[in-house]
Amino acid sequence: MIMLKEYDCWLQKRKITAGINVPDTVFAHKGGEVSDRAVKEFVCGIDRLLGFKPKVSRKIAAGKSGVFLGLVSGMKDAPECCGAKNWDAKCSLSENGFFIKAAEKQIFIAGKDEPGLLYGVFRFLSLLALGLIKNVFELCDSPVSALRMINHWDNFDGAVERGYAGNSLFYKNGGFDFDRQRIEDYARLLASIGINRVSINNVNVRANAKLLITEKYLKDAGKLADIFRRFGIRLLISVNFGAPWSLGKLPTADPLDEKAADWWKNRVALIYKYIPDLAGFLVKADSEGEPGPFQYNRTHADGANMLAKAVKPFGGIIVWRCFVYNCVQDWRDKNVDRARAAYDHFIQQDGAFDDNVILQIKHGPYDFQVREPVSPLFGALKKTRHVMELQITQEYTGHQIDLCYLPWVWEDIMRYDSAHGEKSSIMELTAKREEGLCGIEGFSAVVNVGLDGNWTGHTLAQANLYGYGRMAWNPAVTAKEIAREWSALSFGLNETARKIENILLKSYPAYEKYNAPFGVCFMVTPNTHYGPNIEGYEFSRWGTYHRASADAIGIDRTPSGTGYTSQYSPKNAALFADPSTCPENLILFFHRLRYDYKMKNGQTLLQNIYDTHFEGYDDVAAMLEDWKSLENSLESEVYNSVLSRFERQLVNAREWRDQINTYFRRKTGIGDNRGRVIYD
Ligand code: GCU
Repeated sequence: MIMLKEYDCWLQKRKITAGINVPDTVFAHKGGEVSDRAVKEFVCGIDRLLGFKPKVSRKIAAGKSGVFLGLVSGMKDAPECCGAKNWDAKCSLSENGFFIKAAEKQIFIAGKDEPGLLYGVFRFLSLLALGLIKNVFELCDSPVSALRMINHWDNFDGAVERGYAGNSLFYKNGGFDFDRQRIEDYARLLASIGINRVSINNVNVRANAKLLITEKYLKDAGKLADIFRRFGIRLLISVNFGAPWSLGKLPTADPLDEKAADWWKNRVALIYKYIPDLAGFLVKADSEGEPGPFQYNRTHADGANMLAKAVKPFGGIIVWRCFVYNCVQDWRDKNVDRARAAYDHFIQQDGAFDDNVILQIKHGPYDFQVREPVSPLFGALKKTRHVMELQITQEYTGHQIDLCYLPWVWEDIMRYDSAHGEKSSIMELTAKREEGLCGIEGFSAVVNVGLDGNWTGHTLAQANLYGYGRMAWNPAVTAKEIAREWSALSFGLNETARKIENILLKSYPAYEKYNAPFGVCFMVTPNTHYGPNIEGYEFSRWGTYHRASADAIGIDRTPSGTGYTSQYSPKNAALFADPSTCPENLILFFHRLRYDYKMKNGQTLLQNIYDTHFEGYDDVAAMLEDWKSLENSLESEVYNSVLSRFERQLVNAREWRDQINTYFRRKTGIGDNRGRVIYD
């Protein structure tokens, strides 16, 4: 029987057989808070995996057997024999990087900086648990991205916007209310996967949350920052652009008005009194009803730069979201294409932003759909710092009721080639930062955690949080590698873990099959975004239409339609504009096609819609059976909570299958060519 303490996620206490002799003394100089935490984590980690606690000596005894923990620059006291002193040059570590070297009787873990040491310790412990550290072992690793951010959409009343794992870890009843131990445990989990920034409140800064930047609440925000700081994590606060007006009672929040700018300067000085290392602000402006510079006929650069100037003296950044579009569209108007919005708004301003502004761009042009093309801004922006925004919380991907393993989505994104010059895939653009070019500086993701005992509602959704951290650190890590690591770290090195890994891997393809077909997007229930409602958004203001008729479906986004394809590099514009070269999983995003359009497998589009929906349901039924086969290997609490979610998922998949199939059969009058049941 495998015991899983869900609360501990991938940091389980589980006795393993180490592939290496771990000495019983740790040598480490007294360091700062984060270094000391690294030493603590090493000792606890060895205890939870090997069952003994190494003793810590603050005096480095050269030539001795032992574990040497420190900064690369401080390794000069460590024994000569393993050549550890040359490792800095050999690895050319960048910020937050580390090296690990294990040789007979000695283990070295050294960080480029204090967080680097902490990351090195956590990685060493994972590799040990995975059985990957053998007698002689060397690893140099630096994060490819500098910014590895988590965004909380937590509200002051304790609810979490798009949260499916219980209430907020930070707030309750209109203000801060947190359990310090729980926050520490959370910060530890995040640090163990390399996260270094956390924004603590919803980007929709409404009601009482506007008061977060007042003294009354900053005290508590400061306490939160103190906990995260020990794990190398700096906080961001989401701010409301209209604050000078709504909070400061000024007549305007115009970014070019001196009084508004001064108001921010004073406010920033106050905030930094309480959180001296605040990373900066996250801003959703002119988006879905939030105030912004457009209200004053100013540009986004005007707005962002005004804030950037206020935080600059404190070393702060402004993370400015590009999720800007017309959310009061008339569905009758076919000239407006929401997919175009982010590029149209921001490409013209490339180079107009201050150097401490970072644009945060959603990975696709719409909104975290099951399948979307990558935003055309990536690769096209040349003179503006930027990061990519992903969504770990399963807003459109099953609410953590349905299993949907998201690293598959992210792997496709990371490997997408923007075709803007050399080395232009997303993972290469991320690596470009290292070469001093304007690439992608990192990632941000809306998190999937809450007060539920297992953090993520669905226990297997922990894999999505883990996967995000691993991919944000290194976008070249594959979804399969992550599934293997996560399953083994959580359930151990055994057959059950391998089965769970396989279930994870099947889950995203299954979800995609029973959802909106071939990248057409938005066939979900309005507002909740769970379950099908095929025309739920057809006649609404949100700009997300599929326009299905009796003969055809989709929006023509080629130059003869809305012209969206032309926002891509010439190579990709041509690729997407031609249905014969457009990836089929996105064909209905880019094209309006007749139902009798022949797909590559020789079947019509309509038949492919039927086939994928029958298959998607069958895949869920098979996953449920796979899970049932684990009944005797897992504790009943874990087994049953996942089982009940699979049962609900099957009901959801059935609804999707039947509503989609019936909808298209009614539109076309054509049934399934294999005679399967489609309801009237
Ligand atoms: C989506 C989501 C909202 C969220 C918004 C955003 O539209 O449904 O809840 O506020 O994205 O990213 O700002």
